[in-house]
Amino acid sequence: MIEVVAEILENFKGEVSLIKILQEIQNNLGYVPKEAVDEISRATGISPSQIYGILTFYSQFRLTPPGEHTLKICLGTACHIMGGHEIFEHLKSKFRIMDNETTEDGLFTLSKVRCLGCCGMAPVIMIDEDIHGRMDIQKTEKLVRKYGGYRHETV
Ligand code: FES
Repeated sequence: MIEVVAEILENFKGEVSLIKILQEIQNNLGYVPKEAVDEISRATGISPSQIYGILTFYSQFRLTPPGEHTLKICLGTACHIMGGHEIFEHLKSKFRIMDNETTEDGLFTLSKVRCLGCCGMAPVIMIDEDIHGRMDIQKTEKLVRKYGGYRHETV
C-alpha cells in the first residue's frame, strides 16, 4: 500500500494538488487509509488535520475499505415518497451501520444516493451495477440474502 502511495506522490511531485492526490489514492486503493494520510503529510508538509478536513468535507472520499458489494438506496424525491427512506433506515438498523459504512463482515457498503435516473421504478436500489425497482423491505431482504447477507442468521 505504501508503495502505491509513494508512486502517486512521486507522480505529483512539484504540483501539490491535495484533492487530486487523494482521488488518485482512492482510485487505486478503494479508500484513503490513515497510513496514506501520514505519508502525504510527510511528503507535502500539509498537516494530517488539514488532510482529514478535506477527506471529511467531500463525501466522495472513504476512510475505510469498501465492502465486497456496494448497496445504494435512492432517496431522490420519487423514491423517498415511495418508501426508499424506510428501506434505508431498515438496512441501517439491520446492519448496525450508518450511511457510507461497511458491514462488519465486509460484505456491503451501504449508502444513500439522490436519483438513479429511473424514478418510474421507485423505490429503487442498486447493488453493484444492478438496478432493482419497485422495492420494499421484504424484497430488499430477499435480495440482500441472495448476495450472501445475513449469513450469521438462521431463517
Ligand atoms: S428518485 Fe429514485 S430513481 Fe429517481
